Amino acid sequence: MECHGTAGQGDGPAAHLLTPRPRDFTLGRYKIRSTETGSIPTDADLVRSVRKGLYGSAMPGWETLISDNDISDVVAFVKTLSPRFASETPKEIAAGPQPVSSPQSVRRGYGVYQTLQCGKCHGSDGRGTGATATTFEDDWRQPLRAADLTEPWTFHGGPGAQDLYMRFSGGMSGTPMPSFKDSASENAMWDLANYVVSLARKPLWRMNAREVADFYAREDAEARANPVKRGQYLVDTIGCALCHSPVDEHKRLIPGLKMAGGFRIHVEPFGDYPTGNLTSDKATGLGNWTDDEIKRVLTRGILKDGTRLLPYPMDWPSFSTLKADDLNAIVAYLRSLPPVSNKVPPPSRTFLPLFLWGKFKLLVLGSDPPMIFYPGNVGSAGAGRQPLEP
Ligand code: HEC
Ligand code: HEC
Repeated sequence: MECHGTAGQGDGPAAHLLTPRPRDFTLGRYKIRSTETGSIPTDADLVRSVRKGLYGSAMPGWETLISDNDISDVVAFVKTLSPRFASETPKEIAAGPQPVSSPQSVRRGYGVYQTLQCGKCHGSDGRGTGATATTFEDDWRQPLRAADLTEPWTFHGGPGAQDLYMRFSGGMSGTPMPSFKDSASENAMWDLANYVVSLARKPLWRMNAREVADFYAREDAEARANPVKRGQYLVDTIGCALCHSPVDEHKRLIPGLKMAGGFRIHVEPFGDYPTGNLTSDKATGLGNWTDDEIKRVLTRGILKDGTRLLPYPMDWPSFSTLKADDLNAIVAYLRSLPPVSNKVPPPSRTFLPLFLWGKFKLLVLGSDPPMIFYPGNVGSAGAGRQPLEP
């Protein structure tokens, strides 16, 4: 419930904090299936997703937490949330027996990767290098990353050749990852699966000290060569967009307003803090801020006009430990965001006695400031904008 919401629409209290977002069960549309594109999943698919969790997402595996009977009950309940399960039968993909992998099969799979142009989205090396499409959205217009094919532990549906075969044949509903069932033979898809399995790099937790050092050295070199990409990585992992983008009543990012501010955070008892517009718009965003002004607010909590921020909602004291290169990268990335005009009102100031009472509660009574995140955009853009339902 915390994630998928009380009615299963994928809009629970934690929903806007998660990438990818929790599934909306009411549509009966699932990414991880052993069924044809457009079909509902089988019970076994759902049981597996609940038991094992979805790798590379916030969906945990429940098999160690609840019994198999309870998992079946959960699946039965989830199916009642969409009318599709009552009226449709799942169309399972006939995969045939899995051929053993071999260097020849991997080599043929490389050819299939070229023919099917996977590199357009996943890059020539599976890590996005040279990809022509770099930003993706799901059907709810929420941002999505194309999987890094060298990191199979992030594949939601599992890393095995069999898992991959199902993803290639069934596609991933609601995302740009298409089905290739009609464009490649079964053999070609097995070869492709073996090829993708062969792309796996060694995960950090299996590396020895020397390999870890080499790995980070390579990452650092790549970061220096491409600060905007490094900045995007930092902004994504720190989660700046979670606060600096407005969301609708289903906690979905309002299309077109990512990073354009206007998300209202109430901090008790200090008042309302609408987040700033971080796009490069000159009049309402950071377009007229100097690099130093942006860095100053991130590391010392001082706004352009000299106002000082509390250490919340934005935890700038922890940003103050960012290395100079990383701060520069964040600024470079923010500069690359296309301008979006969204004039955000200033925070409401609290009266001094309330402010002091808040400080007293925090410092003397040791309570955390309760924060409330309100849906909607308090900025000037897109007022009354309706969420997009596919
Ligand atoms: C139009 C862009 C596009 C093309 C073409 C494309 N993919 Fe994807 N692929 C995506 C996106 C986006 C995702 C992430 C989906 C998600 O996380 O929900 C993805 C996910 C994946 C995954 C992860 C599956 C999982 O379980 O999470 C694999 C593996 C994959 N793609 C392989 C391929 C291969 C191989 C090809 C070529 C046959 C291909 N993709 C073609 C966009 C694309
Ligand atoms: C927990 C929510 C939260 C997170 C996460 C967060 N911010 Fe903020 N940020 C705020 C709030 C609230 C303000 C505005 C406070 C005000 O204006 O009084 C703000 C102000 C700013 C400002 C000043 C711009 C303006 O118009 O006021 C910049 C620049 C900024 N944040 C950048 C970032 C970056 C970059 C990140 C990620 C590294 C980030 N923020 C993460 C909540 C957040």
